[in-house]
Parts: sequence; structure tokens; C-alpha cells
Amino acid sequence: MERTLVLLKPDSVQRNLSGELINRIEKIGFKIIGLKLMILDQTKANEHYKEHKLKPFFNDLVSFITSGPIIAIAFQGPDCVKKIRNIMGSTNPSEASPGSIRGDFGISLSMNLIHGSDSVESAKRELKIFFEESELVDYNKNVDKWILE
Ligand code: RTP
Ligand code: MG
Repeated sequence: MERTLVLLKPDSVQRNLSGELINRIEKIGFKIIGLKLMILDQTKANEHYKEHKLKPFFNDLVSFITSGPIIAIAFQGPDCVKKIRNIMGSTNPSEASPGSIRGDFGISLSMNLIHGSDSVESAKRELKIFFEESELVDYNKNVDKWILE
């Protein structure tokens, strides 16, 4: 089953939006299989955002993501990578549609609340940064039969 990494960024935690954002994703039917709160260290932040290493905004990005607690969540479910990216909305909240997380709660490009892996390959790579395989819990719920074909 497909898996993805979601990070509730420091602004979400500070603004008490964690529950709301988790609720939106859980309500779709995706299952939490791993969850932890942490302050990301520089090494992990650099590794997570390494595709942006040469971008002018890289240092600010790393400063922001390490500036306070984040919540890392592994979600599982069919097409969860694409679906979660869709409900997150565009990177820049000014361009994000109403109804999306960034459209409903964000204004700033850096404080855009949430990260979601952008491909199945990225998800595999990123999940390893945040979770040991043994920390991911594959389990059944009775309600699965009303969600999964
Ligand atoms: P994320 O990785 O955080 O989930 O966001 P994303 O895929 O929607 O956007 P991405 O292109 O991966 O960019 C990572 C984060 O860098 C900041 N950014 N700043 N100043 C700029 O031009 C700029 N472009 C991107 C954003 O905060 C974005 O979430
Ligand atoms: Mg990205």
C-alpha cells in the first residue's frame, strides 16, 4: 500500500492547527501508521530538503523548519501521495485554492503549514529520514471495508 510523509511545520504547531490538519487527512480515509513530534536538527533538515540545496531560499527554509517543533506523520492509503498534495494546495498560499489547507490557513510562502512528499520515490526517501521501518505500524481497522475496495 502507498505511503507518504506529512510534516506539520512549526507554524501549524504554534497556531494550534495540528488537530485540524490531521483531521482533514484522516477524514479522507488515509491511515496514520507513524507519528512523532520533534525539533528537527540541521542535518536532517538539510537531508530532507536536499533537492533545494542550491536555491537562494535554502537557508531560510532550513531555519524555518528547525525553528520549533514539527509533527512528522506517515500516512498510508491508495494514491495518498497525490491526494494529499492536492488537498495541501499550491506551494504559495496566495495561489492555493479555497478549500485546500494552504488556501484556507496560509498567507506566507515560507510559513505554508504542511509538507507532503511530492512523489512515491520522494516518500520512500523521506520516510526513512523520519522513521525507522519498525516504527511504522501496519494494522487493520474495521472501517477499512467502507473505505478501501
Ligand atoms: P514542501 O516541500 O515544503 O512540502 O513544499 P512544496 O513541495 O509545495 O514546495 P517546494 O518547491 O518543495 O519548496 C519547499 C519549500 O520552500 C519554500 N519556497 N520558497 N522563496 C521561494 O521562491 C520559495 N520557493 C519555495 C516553500 O516554503 C516551500 O514549501
Ligand atoms: Mg517539496
